[in-house]
Amino acid sequence: MKAFHIYGGVPLQGKVRIQGSKNAALPVLAATLLTGEDCTIRNCPQITDVEHMICLLKNLGCRVRHVSDGYRIDSACAKPHDMSGEAITGMRSSLCMLGAMLARFHEVRMEHPGGCVIGERPIDLHLKALAKMGVTFSQEERVLVGRTNGLHGAQIALAFPSVGATENILLAAVLADGETCIQNAAREPEIEALCCFLTSCGAQIEGVGTDRLRIQGCKTLHGAVFTVPADRIVAGTYLFACTGCGGEVFLEQAPWEQMQAVIALAEQMGAVCQVCRDVRCAGCGFSETCAGLYVQGPDRPRAVGRVQTSVYPGFPTDMQSMALAVLAGADGESVVQETIFENRFRVIEPLRKMGADVRLRSSSEAVVRGVPRLSGAQVEAGELRGGAALVLAGLMARGETVVTGCDYIGRGYENIGKDLKNLGARIVSGYFTKT
Ligand code: UD1
Repeated sequence: MKAFHIYGGVPLQGKVRIQGSKNAALPVLAATLLTGEDCTIRNCPQITDVEHMICLLKNLGCRVRHVSDGYRIDSACAKPHDMSGEAITGMRSSLCMLGAMLARFHEVRMEHPGGCVIGERPIDLHLKALAKMGVTFSQEERVLVGRTNGLHGAQIALAFPSVGATENILLAAVLADGETCIQNAAREPEIEALCCFLTSCGAQIEGVGTDRLRIQGCKTLHGAVFTVPADRIVAGTYLFACTGCGGEVFLEQAPWEQMQAVIALAEQMGAVCQVCRDVRCAGCGFSETCAGLYVQGPDRPRAVGRVQTSVYPGFPTDMQSMALAVLAGADGESVVQETIFENRFRVIEPLRKMGADVRLRSSSEAVVRGVPRLSGAQVEAGELRGGAALVLAGLMARGETVVTGCDYIGRGYENIGKDLKNLGARIVSGYFTKT
């Protein structure tokens, strides 16, 4: 089985360019279906979830061509098709095909979408909202069937600001008849990216960046060129890696405006962060500098008291396992509270195998007493961000850590092994055979 072999204890040094955002790219790729024209999506991360989304679009008849850093997608010939298989069931974000299919074809048949095993992940908010816009849903064995005689605008107040539900409503509303208003909409930057793409295709959306979105439905949309913004979670991963290991790194293109809560936590843990806004800035000490985030890691991270995940602009749930990994080697005791997903503490068990002192006070609260040094062990990633957290723990640990379950990590990171190696980490990807 594929594995990362990591020899920890090396401070990180150097520069890494942050890839395009997974969670921004996926709904934008789904949205290309709405136009029936040519769209070019640049800075698309080369990750398995994107490959799956491209596969779904091709199965519907879209013509897809690779361009230098992304894809050119022509959805003129797309036809409705049943959506099933690994691309649907293995990837939660395939759920945004629901809104896209209904907007383009007025029908959808898809297997229940999967994704990382971080809780039950119901889709009631998506279904309720789309039903309000004129969709009738039924279930045929494992297949979800949705049909409409025509989408119409609606007043939708979300019970929770779900990212996926907000995306699906947006996708449906831009081609619906009349006005849709979403109250309590998610404000995550990925929603802004989707709005930005849809607007460049001719959609009319007001309130972008707020929790109240007003969408005036159009008859048609046109093709557009869009550049996917940098991935705030990948940038956060390398920021925390440097916070855990020490050293000095420059995170080129890191979307620091979207990372305030993550930067604040890294600073509490002892990192020194400096934003480089200007391409000509020389403040970060790297000769050919550009916009991004310069980070100086501490000799040893400090405990933080308490950290709690919440919706944007709060501390992101996708960074929670990585915070846990760094705090496991920090000086002092911290409490980590998860408020978005249940079952997002699966990483605790492998961290314990590496000598971490972490206990669950309740199903949503973990107490971490930092140990002077984690120790290398063979551990298995059970989901994407938990897998990245184990890589960080391996970088901090004494001796060799072997992280298996790398396929999960490849769903969100283009090249975490190579990036960290370029920063001086002793990490190689290879194979591991259980004896
Ligand atoms: C997206 C992100 C994921 C991130 C999450 C929260 C993508 C592909 N994934 O996931 O990386 O961790 O936002 O920032 O963009 N819920 C319901 N009913 C619903 C929908 C959601 O109860 O119909 C609950 C979920 O179970 C969860 C919470 O709402 O407890 C947040 O879910 P949501 O914001 O929808 O996250 P995703 O869109 O799945």
